[in-house]
Amino acid sequence: MRIGVLTGGGDCPGLNAVIRAVVRRGVGEYGHEFVGFRDGWRGPLELEHRPLGVPEVRGILPRGGTILGSSRTNPSKIEGGYERIRENLASLGVEGLIAIGGEDTLGVATKLNELGVKVVGVPKTIDNDLNATDYTFGFDTAVNIAMEAIDRLHTTAESHHRALIVEVMGRHAGWIAFHAGLSGGANVILIPEQKFDIDRVCDYIERRFESQYSPIIVVAEGAEPIGGIPEAADAPLDAFGHVRLGGIAHWLEGEIGRRTGREARATVLGHVQRGGTPTAFDRVLATRFGLHAIEAVTEGQWGKMTALRGTNIEMVPLEEATTELKTVPESLYREAEVFFG
Ligand code: F6P
Repeated sequence: MRIGVLTGGGDCPGLNAVIRAVVRRGVGEYGHEFVGFRDGWRGPLELEHRPLGVPEVRGILPRGGTILGSSRTNPSKIEGGYERIRENLASLGVEGLIAIGGEDTLGVATKLNELGVKVVGVPKTIDNDLNATDYTFGFDTAVNIAMEAIDRLHTTAESHHRALIVEVMGRHAGWIAFHAGLSGGANVILIPEQKFDIDRVCDYIERRFESQYSPIIVVAEGAEPIGGIPEAADAPLDAFGHVRLGGIAHWLEGEIGRRTGREARATVLGHVQRGGTPTAFDRVLATRFGLHAIEAVTEGQWGKMTALRGTNIEMVPLEEATTELKTVPESLYREAEVFFG
């Protein structure tokens, strides 16, 4: 078979491991041929592609990012976008497509599949917020990067008797903040799922200073105080309609300083969390997803995506990626509260 592969949405460590596993098993075991589409849905829309054989995937397992490139191009926003993708795939003789992406990319894959394009999905996101799978690759790497940053911030916070605030990614789900905060010994963790009371946060900070230690506050970019904060009227939106977040740590810096009289400083980790080499966990998960995705293609399991359930990889309907977001349950968040303050 001739199979197309693309990576869409925000990149994450482990994408190359999926591509490598798909191609190595696809060529070696099944004798398939591959077309690598560039920059997510832009590739099949604009017929931008590159060769994808075993030589092209040599040495990419430990590399971050994606050799295919990525974008947030949304075919729904382009007149006749879906139809154009279908025609372009047919013109290249591509009989099936492996779409590697998060909620948005897999949403497009679901729509295409309904329109008769043969698609298998592979879920990815550092946010770990796809309900269909216990874990997505990229998450473990992002958490480890954030944890290491917190470890480093502890020592400098102590030297200067400051409150240090670390902003991590997580638009609607606080998984990175929760795991990084718990593993890094944060004194407060703020997540989008739980609106926070700024007075309470300041009490935790005072308590920590009273015990002669400096507080570390981990905040997800999507976290909000009760009552909200004024949103920038001109905040840019991407093609999927998401507002570009970032800045809650700086808001906290001002509020904590004003309310407690203590020096507070913000660190925004941003895209550092998405870059660089994947952890062993992410390499293994991504590789297993790739191996199962190409098996599913070969068996004609169209409209399905790989999912980690316990320690098994299962094929589940593509819609499951988009029907419900996996957020941090309140009971889990409460478990961490014993370390606050
Ligand atoms: O969805 C992954 C993610 O990293 C989010 O955590 C974050 O809000 C967003 O992508 C950032 O997107 P961009 O790289 O387009 O700024």
